[in-house]
Amino acid sequence: MKELKWKYLVRSAVRGKNIMMTGPAGCGKTLAAKSLVNALERPDFYFNLGATQDPRATLIGNVHFDKGKGTYFSESLFVKAIQTPNAVILLDELSRAHPEAWNILMTVLDSGQRYLRLDEQDGQGTINVAEGVTFIATANIGNEYTSTRVLDKALMDRFTIIEMDVLSNEEELGLLQYMFPNVDTELLDAVSQISHQTRVEASNENPRLTSGVSTRTSVEIAGLLFDGFSLPEASEITIYPQYSNDGGIDSERTFVKQLVQRFVKDSRTDDESMFNEDEIEQNDLDDDYAF
Ligand SMILES: Nc1ncnc2c1ncn2[C@@H]1O[C@H](COP(=O)(O)OP(=O)(O)OP(=O)(O)O)[C@@H](O)[C@H]1O
Ligand SMILES: [Mg+2]
Repeated sequence: MKELKWKYLVRSAVRGKNIMMTGPAGCGKTLAAKSLVNALERPDFYFNLGATQDPRATLIGNVHFDKGKGTYFSESLFVKAIQTPNAVILLDELSRAHPEAWNILMTVLDSGQRYLRLDEQDGQGTINVAEGVTFIATANIGNEYTSTRVLDKALMDRFTIIEMDVLSNEEELGLLQYMFPNVDTELLDAVSQISHQTRVEASNENPRLTSGVSTRTSVEIAGLLFDGFSLPEASEITIYPQYSNDGGIDSERTFVKQLVQRFVKDSRTDDESMFNEDEIEQNDLDDDYAF
Protein backbone atom coordinates (compact mmCIF):
# COMPACT_ATOMS: atom_id res chain seq x y z
CA MET A 1 0.00 0.00 0.00
CA LYS A 2 1.07 3.59 -0.40
CA GLU A 3 3.34 4.92 2.32
CA LEU A 4 1.03 7.81 3.19
CA LYS A 5 -1.89 5.42 3.77
CA TRP A 6 0.25 3.15 5.91
CA LYS A 7 1.37 6.15 7.98
CA TYR A 8 -2.25 7.23 8.40
CA LEU A 9 -3.23 3.68 9.34
CA VAL A 10 -0.57 3.44 12.06
CA ARG A 11 -1.38 6.93 13.32
CA SER A 12 -5.12 6.17 13.51
CA ALA A 13 -4.42 3.01 15.48
CA VAL A 14 -2.06 4.76 17.88
CA ARG A 15 -4.65 7.51 18.41
CA GLY A 16 -7.26 4.89 19.27
CA LYS A 17 -9.52 5.45 16.25
CA ASN A 18 -11.82 2.75 14.93
CA ILE A 19 -10.44 1.95 11.51
CA MET A 20 -12.20 0.47 8.52
CA MET A 21 -10.22 -0.77 5.54
CA THR A 22 -12.33 -0.74 2.40
CA GLY A 23 -11.78 -1.90 -1.17
CA PRO A 24 -12.64 -4.66 -3.63
CA ALA A 25 -11.96 -8.36 -3.03
CA GLY A 26 -8.34 -9.48 -2.80
CA CYS A 27 -6.78 -6.00 -2.75
CA GLY A 28 -4.96 -6.45 0.57
CA LYS A 29 -7.42 -5.25 3.22
CA THR A 30 -6.94 -8.19 5.58
CA LEU A 31 -3.20 -8.25 4.90
CA ALA A 32 -2.89 -4.55 5.76
CA ALA A 33 -4.94 -4.97 8.93
CA LYS A 34 -2.87 -7.97 10.02
CA SER A 35 0.38 -6.14 9.20
CA LEU A 36 -0.78 -3.28 11.39
CA VAL A 37 -1.58 -5.67 14.23
CA ASN A 38 1.93 -7.17 13.92
CA ALA A 39 3.58 -3.76 13.80
CA LEU A 40 1.86 -2.54 16.96
CA GLU A 41 3.01 -5.28 19.34
CA ARG A 42 -0.13 -5.05 21.39
CA PRO A 43 -2.45 -7.89 22.50
CA ASP A 44 -4.49 -8.83 19.45
CA PHE A 45 -7.72 -10.66 18.71
CA TYR A 46 -9.15 -11.78 15.39
CA PHE A 47 -12.83 -12.23 14.55
CA ASN A 48 -14.08 -13.16 11.10
CA LEU A 49 -17.58 -11.75 11.14
CA GLY A 50 -18.26 -12.90 7.60
CA ALA A 51 -17.97 -16.52 8.67
CA THR A 52 -20.20 -16.43 11.73
CA GLN A 53 -23.84 -17.45 11.53
CA ASP A 54 -24.61 -16.62 15.15
CA PRO A 55 -23.50 -13.06 15.99
CA ARG A 56 -24.79 -13.19 19.56
CA ALA A 57 -22.73 -16.28 20.35
CA THR A 58 -19.62 -14.82 18.73
CA LEU A 59 -19.85 -11.36 20.25
CA ILE A 60 -21.63 -11.95 23.53
CA GLY A 61 -21.65 -15.61 24.51
CA ASN A 62 -23.83 -18.65 25.03
CA VAL A 63 -26.30 -19.68 27.67
CA HIS A 64 -25.70 -23.29 28.73
CA PHE A 65 -27.55 -25.69 30.95
CA ASP A 66 -25.82 -28.02 33.37
CA LYS A 67 -27.66 -30.43 35.70
CA GLY A 68 -25.54 -29.41 38.68
CA LYS A 69 -25.10 -25.72 38.00
CA GLY A 70 -28.39 -25.00 36.26
CA THR A 71 -28.39 -22.33 33.59
CA TYR A 72 -25.17 -20.40 33.25
CA PHE A 73 -23.63 -17.97 30.82
CA SER A 74 -20.28 -18.48 29.13
CA GLU A 75 -18.92 -15.28 27.70
CA SER A 76 -17.41 -15.04 24.23
CA LEU A 77 -13.78 -14.38 23.34
CA PHE A 78 -14.95 -10.97 22.15
CA VAL A 79 -16.05 -10.08 25.70
CA LYS A 80 -12.55 -10.96 26.90
CA ALA A 81 -10.98 -9.03 24.02
CA ILE A 82 -12.75 -5.73 24.73
CA GLN A 83 -11.76 -5.97 28.40
CA THR A 84 -8.07 -6.28 27.52
CA PRO A 85 -6.37 -2.87 27.81
CA ASN A 86 -4.64 -1.72 24.61
CA ALA A 87 -5.96 -4.67 22.63
CA VAL A 88 -6.12 -4.43 18.85
CA ILE A 89 -9.30 -6.14 17.72
CA LEU A 90 -9.62 -7.14 14.08
CA LEU A 91 -13.22 -7.36 12.84
CA ASP A 92 -12.63 -9.02 9.47
CA GLU A 93 -15.32 -8.96 6.78
CA LEU A 94 -17.63 -6.69 8.73
CA SER A 95 -19.55 -5.97 5.52
CA ARG A 96 -20.55 -9.64 5.31
CA ALA A 97 -21.66 -9.81 8.92
CA HIS A 98 -25.25 -10.40 9.99
CA PRO A 99 -27.07 -7.11 10.70
CA GLU A 100 -27.49 -8.28 14.28
CA ALA A 101 -23.71 -8.15 14.64
CA TRP A 102 -23.82 -4.52 13.53
CA ASN A 103 -26.49 -3.75 16.13
CA ILE A 104 -24.45 -5.33 18.88
CA LEU A 105 -21.35 -3.40 17.79
CA MET A 106 -23.11 -0.03 17.62
CA THR A 107 -22.55 0.91 21.29
CA VAL A 108 -19.16 -0.82 21.44
CA LEU A 109 -17.78 1.34 18.64
CA ASP A 110 -19.39 4.62 19.68
CA SER A 111 -16.73 6.78 21.29
CA GLY A 112 -19.30 8.25 23.67
CA GLN A 113 -20.57 4.84 24.82
CA ARG A 114 -17.90 2.14 24.45
CA TYR A 115 -19.86 -0.63 26.12
CA LEU A 116 -21.29 -4.01 25.18
CA ARG A 117 -24.78 -4.83 26.32
CA LEU A 118 -24.93 -8.44 27.41
CA ASP A 119 -28.66 -8.80 27.46
CA GLU A 120 -30.59 -6.53 25.18
CA GLN A 121 -33.97 -7.71 26.49
CA ASP A 122 -33.41 -6.71 30.10
CA GLY A 123 -31.45 -3.58 29.27
CA GLN A 124 -28.99 -4.52 31.97
CA GLY A 125 -25.55 -6.03 32.23
CA THR A 126 -23.05 -4.02 30.25
CA ILE A 127 -19.31 -4.45 29.84
CA ASN A 128 -17.10 -1.43 29.25
CA VAL A 129 -14.44 -1.38 26.57
CA ALA A 130 -11.03 -1.13 28.26
CA GLU A 131 -8.61 1.79 27.87
CA GLY A 132 -6.65 1.95 24.64
CA VAL A 133 -8.62 -0.68 22.72
CA THR A 134 -8.46 -0.20 18.93
CA PHE A 135 -10.85 -1.78 16.44
CA ILE A 136 -9.85 -2.48 12.83
CA ALA A 137 -12.56 -3.66 10.47
CA THR A 138 -12.43 -4.70 6.83
CA ALA A 139 -15.25 -4.25 4.34
CA ASN A 140 -15.83 -4.94 0.66
CA ILE A 141 -17.69 -1.81 -0.22
CA GLY A 142 -18.89 -0.82 -3.64
CA ASN A 143 -17.99 -4.03 -5.38
CA GLU A 144 -19.79 -6.74 -7.23
CA TYR A 145 -20.22 -9.21 -4.37
CA THR A 146 -23.85 -9.75 -3.54
CA SER A 147 -23.17 -11.50 -0.24
CA THR A 148 -21.78 -8.20 0.98
CA ARG A 149 -24.55 -6.35 2.70
CA VAL A 150 -24.77 -2.62 2.43
CA LEU A 151 -23.27 -1.32 5.64
CA ASP A 152 -25.44 0.79 7.85
CA LYS A 153 -24.59 4.48 7.62
CA ALA A 154 -24.59 4.92 11.40
CA LEU A 155 -22.11 2.07 11.75
CA MET A 156 -19.89 3.48 8.99
CA ASP A 157 -19.85 6.83 10.79
CA ARG A 158 -18.13 5.22 13.74
CA PHE A 159 -15.02 4.48 11.69
CA THR A 160 -12.12 6.28 10.12
CA ILE A 161 -12.26 4.92 6.57
CA ILE A 162 -9.03 3.95 4.85
CA GLU A 163 -9.58 2.95 1.26
CA MET A 164 -7.10 0.42 -0.12
CA ASP A 165 -5.99 1.37 -3.60
CA VAL A 166 -6.00 -1.26 -6.28
CA LEU A 167 -2.39 -1.59 -7.42
CA SER A 168 -1.36 -0.14 -10.77
CA ASN A 169 0.28 -2.61 -13.13
CA GLU A 170 3.76 -1.26 -12.30
CA GLU A 171 3.08 -1.61 -8.57
CA GLU A 172 1.70 -5.08 -9.05
CA LEU A 173 4.71 -6.14 -11.11
CA GLY A 174 6.91 -4.75 -8.33
CA LEU A 175 5.02 -6.81 -5.75
CA LEU A 176 5.26 -10.01 -7.82
CA GLN A 177 8.98 -9.48 -8.43
CA TYR A 178 9.51 -8.88 -4.74
CA MET A 179 7.59 -12.03 -3.81
CA PHE A 180 8.93 -14.25 -6.61
CA PRO A 181 12.41 -13.02 -7.55
CA ASN A 182 13.16 -16.36 -9.24
CA VAL A 183 10.31 -16.17 -11.73
CA ASP A 184 11.09 -14.69 -15.15
CA THR A 185 10.26 -10.97 -15.13
CA GLU A 186 8.56 -11.14 -18.51
CA LEU A 187 6.18 -13.77 -17.24
CA LEU A 188 5.40 -11.70 -14.14
CA ASP A 189 4.91 -8.70 -16.37
CA ALA A 190 2.38 -10.68 -18.42
CA VAL A 191 0.51 -11.54 -15.21
CA SER A 192 0.33 -7.94 -14.06
CA GLN A 193 -0.72 -6.80 -17.55
CA ILE A 194 -3.48 -9.38 -17.78
CA SER A 195 -4.83 -8.42 -14.36
CA HIS A 196 -4.57 -4.74 -15.12
CA GLN A 197 -6.40 -5.05 -18.42
CA THR A 198 -9.25 -6.98 -16.83
CA ARG A 199 -9.60 -4.18 -14.27
CA VAL A 200 -9.62 -1.52 -16.96
CA GLU A 201 -12.21 -3.50 -18.88
CA ALA A 202 -14.41 -3.92 -15.79
CA SER A 203 -14.40 -0.17 -15.18
CA ASN A 204 -15.31 0.71 -18.77
CA GLU A 205 -18.65 2.25 -19.56
CA ASN A 206 -19.83 -0.87 -21.37
CA PRO A 207 -17.68 -3.50 -19.72
CA ARG A 208 -17.33 -7.00 -21.10
CA LEU A 209 -16.21 -8.19 -17.65
CA THR A 210 -18.11 -7.63 -14.42
CA SER A 211 -14.95 -7.62 -12.31
CA GLY A 212 -11.20 -7.45 -12.67
CA VAL A 213 -8.65 -10.06 -11.61
CA SER A 214 -7.60 -9.30 -8.03
CA THR A 215 -4.09 -8.92 -6.67
CA ARG A 216 -4.76 -12.08 -4.69
CA THR A 217 -5.24 -13.97 -7.96
CA SER A 218 -2.13 -12.38 -9.51
CA VAL A 219 -0.10 -13.57 -6.53
CA GLU A 220 -1.61 -17.05 -6.87
CA ILE A 221 -0.70 -17.20 -10.56
CA ALA A 222 2.87 -16.09 -9.84
CA GLY A 223 3.09 -18.84 -7.22
CA LEU A 224 2.01 -21.41 -9.81
CA LEU A 225 4.58 -20.07 -12.31
CA PHE A 226 7.19 -20.44 -9.60
CA ASP A 227 6.16 -24.08 -9.22
CA GLY A 228 6.62 -24.73 -12.93
CA PHE A 229 3.10 -24.21 -14.28
CA SER A 230 2.86 -22.43 -17.62
CA LEU A 231 0.94 -19.17 -17.96
CA PRO A 232 -1.96 -20.85 -19.82
CA GLU A 233 -2.15 -23.59 -17.16
CA ALA A 234 -2.06 -21.11 -14.27
CA SER A 235 -4.72 -18.97 -15.95
CA GLU A 236 -6.94 -21.96 -16.60
CA ILE A 237 -6.87 -22.90 -12.94
CA THR A 238 -7.15 -19.50 -11.32
CA ILE A 239 -8.71 -16.96 -13.69
CA TYR A 240 -11.16 -18.80 -15.93
CA PRO A 241 -13.35 -20.27 -13.14
CA GLN A 242 -13.99 -16.69 -11.95
CA TYR A 243 -15.73 -15.81 -15.21
CA SER A 244 -19.02 -17.10 -16.51
CA ASN A 245 -19.26 -19.31 -19.58
CA ASP A 246 -22.77 -18.04 -20.38
CA GLY A 247 -23.13 -16.67 -23.86
CA GLY A 248 -20.58 -18.90 -25.60
CA ILE A 249 -18.20 -16.83 -27.70
CA ASP A 250 -19.60 -13.64 -26.16
CA SER A 251 -19.06 -14.90 -22.63
CA GLU A 252 -16.79 -13.28 -20.06
CA ARG A 253 -14.70 -16.43 -20.05
CA THR A 254 -14.07 -16.24 -23.78
CA PHE A 255 -13.03 -12.64 -23.33
CA VAL A 256 -10.44 -13.40 -20.65
CA LYS A 257 -9.20 -16.45 -22.55
CA GLN A 258 -8.52 -14.27 -25.57
CA LEU A 259 -6.80 -11.71 -23.37
CA VAL A 260 -4.52 -14.33 -21.82
CA GLN A 261 -3.85 -15.80 -25.26
CA ARG A 262 -2.43 -12.51 -26.46
CA PHE A 263 0.21 -12.62 -23.74
CA VAL A 264 1.02 -16.25 -24.40
CA LYS A 265 1.68 -15.38 -28.04
CA ASP A 266 3.71 -12.35 -26.99
CA SER A 267 6.03 -14.37 -24.80
CA ARG A 268 6.63 -16.82 -27.67
CA THR A 269 7.64 -13.91 -29.87
CA ASP A 270 9.92 -12.72 -27.09
CA ASP A 271 11.84 -15.97 -27.30
CA GLU A 272 12.74 -15.03 -30.84
CA SER A 273 13.68 -11.61 -29.43
CA MET A 274 12.01 -9.79 -32.29
CA PHE A 275 8.66 -8.13 -32.75
CA ASN A 276 7.32 -7.90 -36.24
CA GLU A 277 5.67 -4.69 -37.38
CA ASP A 278 2.15 -6.08 -37.08
CA GLU A 279 2.56 -6.98 -33.47
CA ILE A 280 4.03 -3.65 -32.48
CA GLU A 281 1.06 -1.98 -34.07
CA GLN A 282 -1.26 -4.35 -32.29
CA ASN A 283 0.37 -3.53 -28.96
CA ASP A 284 -0.03 0.19 -29.57
CA LEU A 285 -3.68 -0.37 -30.25
CA ASP A 286 -4.01 -2.30 -27.03
CA ASP A 287 -2.44 0.53 -25.09
CA ASP A 288 -4.87 3.02 -26.55
CA TYR A 289 -7.67 0.70 -25.72
CA ALA A 290 -6.46 0.21 -22.16
CA PHE A 291 -6.13 3.83 -21.10
N1 LIG B 1 -1.84 -4.53 -1.87
C1 LIG B 1 -1.28 -5.74 -1.67
N2 LIG B 1 0.01 -5.85 -1.29
C2 LIG B 1 0.56 -7.05 -1.11
N3 LIG B 1 -0.09 -8.23 -1.27
C3 LIG B 1 -1.36 -8.18 -1.63
C4 LIG B 1 -2.04 -6.95 -1.85
N4 LIG B 1 -3.30 -7.20 -2.19
C5 LIG B 1 -3.43 -8.53 -2.19
N5 LIG B 1 -2.27 -9.14 -1.86
C6 LIG B 1 -2.06 -10.59 -1.82
O1 LIG B 1 -3.34 -11.19 -1.90
C7 LIG B 1 -3.63 -11.93 -0.72
C8 LIG B 1 -5.04 -11.64 -0.29
O2 LIG B 1 -5.12 -10.34 0.26
P1 LIG B 1 -6.14 -10.00 1.41
O3 LIG B 1 -6.60 -11.24 2.09
O4 LIG B 1 -5.56 -8.95 2.26
O5 LIG B 1 -7.33 -9.41 0.54
P2 LIG B 1 -8.69 -8.73 1.04
O6 LIG B 1 -8.71 -7.36 0.48
O7 LIG B 1 -8.83 -8.88 2.50
O8 LIG B 1 -9.74 -9.62 0.26
P3 LIG B 1 -11.25 -10.03 0.67
O9 LIG B 1 -12.09 -8.88 0.30
O10 LIG B 1 -11.54 -11.20 -0.24
O11 LIG B 1 -11.28 -10.37 2.10
C9 LIG B 1 -2.59 -11.51 0.29
O12 LIG B 1 -2.26 -12.56 1.15
C10 LIG B 1 -1.41 -11.11 -0.57
O13 LIG B 1 -0.65 -12.24 -0.93
MG1 LIG C 1 -10.12 -10.03 3.66
